[in-house]
Amino acid sequence: MSQSVETLDEIVERYPGQPEYLIFMLQDIQSTYGYISEDSMKVVCDYSGVPLTQGYSVATFYQSFRLDPRGEHEVRVCLGTACHLKGGQRIVEEVERRLNVAAGGTTEDLRYTLSTVNCVGACALAPVVVVDEEYLSNMTAKKLEKHLKTLDYDLENETKEHGHV
Ligand code: FES
Repeated sequence: MSQSVETLDEIVERYPGQPEYLIFMLQDIQSTYGYISEDSMKVVCDYSGVPLTQGYSVATFYQSFRLDPRGEHEVRVCLGTACHLKGGQRIVEEVERRLNVAAGGTTEDLRYTLSTVNCVGACALAPVVVVDEEYLSNMTAKKLEKHLKTLDYDLENETKEHGHV
């Protein structure tokens, strides 16, 4: 069953067009679309009477806001000391090659976002990679490759089920 996604106008019109509601609008847009696009930012700023530059300073001040689209899956490779010593960097390089995207970026097909993080608090399990909410311990590039293949498989099937090419 498909649910219709709210339009930008529907989202902003939940609030009065005033600067103090800017953050609420941005939060709602992010939870609907996953990030705040340039167009969304323009609509929100126009509607609430805030200059565009101020909209962007708010969005960059609060780190929870994302200004770029995110992939369907997030792959976060830990590069804290313990993980780095146990080969974290090599994992990053392998995944960058595999996904054809540099750390910090999202693949063109919007399937994966790759990033590095500093210690996810599981040093005894180093090297650690967090895929979505799942912590993968004692990772190697090969093990991660296997995991990504499973995700690829799921994504392929989802795409087929929904009739996308
Ligand atoms: S350094 Fe990777 S979990 Fe702590």
